[in-house]
Amino acid sequence: MQWSVTSVIVFLLIDGHNSLENGLLRKPPMGWLTWQRFRCVTDCRQFPDTCISEKLIRTQAKLLVDGGYLAAGYEYIIIDDCWLNNTRAADGSLQPDDDRFPSGIRSLADYVHSLGLKFGIYEDYGTQTCAGYPGVLGHLEQDAQTFASWKVDYLKLDGCNADIKDFDTGYPSMGHALNATGYPIAYSCSWPAYQEFSKMKPNYAAISQACNLWRNWGDIDDSWDSVYSIIQWFGDNQDRLAPFHGPGHWNDPDMIVVGNYGLSPGQSRAQMALWSIIAAPLILSVDLRAISEWAREIILNKNLISINQDPLGQMGRRIVKLDGNVEIWSKTLIDDRTAFVALFPQPYGTPIQLSVNLTNLGLGRFDEYDFFETFHGEFLGKYHKNERYSFTINPSGDVHAFYVESAIAKTLRFKV
Ligand code: GLA
Repeated sequence: MQWSVTSVIVFLLIDGHNSLENGLLRKPPMGWLTWQRFRCVTDCRQFPDTCISEKLIRTQAKLLVDGGYLAAGYEYIIIDDCWLNNTRAADGSLQPDDDRFPSGIRSLADYVHSLGLKFGIYEDYGTQTCAGYPGVLGHLEQDAQTFASWKVDYLKLDGCNADIKDFDTGYPSMGHALNATGYPIAYSCSWPAYQEFSKMKPNYAAISQACNLWRNWGDIDDSWDSVYSIIQWFGDNQDRLAPFHGPGHWNDPDMIVVGNYGLSPGQSRAQMALWSIIAAPLILSVDLRAISEWAREIILNKNLISINQDPLGQMGRRIVKLDGNVEIWSKTLIDDRTAFVALFPQPYGTPIQLSVNLTNLGLGRFDEYDFFETFHGEFLGKYHKNERYSFTINPSGDVHAFYVESAIAKTLRFKV
C-alpha cells in the first residue's frame, strides 16, 4: 500500500483526536485535596475553620508551602465536592457558593498560583455531583471554558447521577473539551471506578488514552480496614491495571489518609510505602494545621517520594503472599534498582521474622546486591543471589521497606 503524505497527516490528526495527549503528569501527581478530611461541611457559621471555603483553601495552600510540602513535590491543591452554588448563573455558567467563595474561583486560583502551587477543582459528569450540586452534563464545552478562564490546572470529574454506559464516550468528550480550551488541565476521571462497581469490565486502554489518572475503586476512608482493602484490590487486579500505568496516565487508589484520626504510625508508613510502590498519585487529605510531626515526616520521606516519582513510572506489583498473609510488593526503578515493601497486616502482637530467597524476590540477574532500608537509607548488607534475606516486620499493618542495587550495575552505569 502506498501512503501519501496527506493520508499520514490525516491519520495522525484522527489518532490525536482519540487521545488526551496533553503532555501532563509525566510523574504521578502530588498534592492535597479537601474530600477525605473535610468532606462536605458547608455550615461556616458552626464550623468556620473547616467548612469548604476559600478561607480553608488559602490556609492550607499557605501551609503546603510553609510546611515544606511543595518543596517535596506536593504541588496541586484541589477543592473536591461542595464548592458550587446550587444553581448555574443566568448564562448557564457554573458559579461557586457566594458565601463561602466571595472572591470567586479565579481570584482563589490566582492566590494559589502566586504561592507557586497549581489549582484543581471537582465536578461530575452527570446531572449532579455526588453531593447534589450541578453536574457538567449538557454543558461540557461551556464548563471546560469556565475552568480554563479560571486557570484550573486539574479537574477531578466524578461519575454520580449519570448513566455509566455513557462514560466510554462522555469522559473522552470532556477531555476533548478541556484540550480545546488550549489551557493545560490535568484530567482525573472516575470512569472505571463506577464501572468496576457495576461489574462492567472497564476499557483501560481507552481510559488511559483519555485521562491522566483515574480512580479504579471505592472511596478511601480514615481506617486501616479501608486502606488494606484497597491494597488487596490492587494486588488482586494488578495484571489488568499495570499495563496501562505509566508517564501521563495513572491508576489511582485514592487519597493518602496519613495524619488524620485512623491510622497508627505503622499503618501510615504502610500506606505511604505501598502508594509509592504502586506509583500512585500522592494526594494528601489532612488538616495541615493539626498534623503530627511523625505523620509529616512519613509524608515528606524523600526516599519514598523518589520511588513514587521514579521516571519509569512502573506500577509495582505484589510478588509474594506468604503464610500469615505477609505480602511482598516490588517495583523496578531506573538504573537497575528495585524497591520492595513487605507488609504484615495481622494484629499478631509481636514482630515476626522472615527470610526469603533472593530469587523469590526476582533478583538473579546480577551475582550480588546491596540492600538498603528505605525510610532511612541505611545499608543493610551485601547479598549473593543464592542467599536468603532475613528481616523483621512489626504487626498490625506495618511494613519493612527496602531497596536493592547491584554494584556491577552501578559500575556499568558509570562507565557508559
Ligand atoms: C465520590 C468520590 C469521592 C468524593 C465524593 C464527593 O464519592 O469518589 O472521592 O469526590 O464523591 O461527593
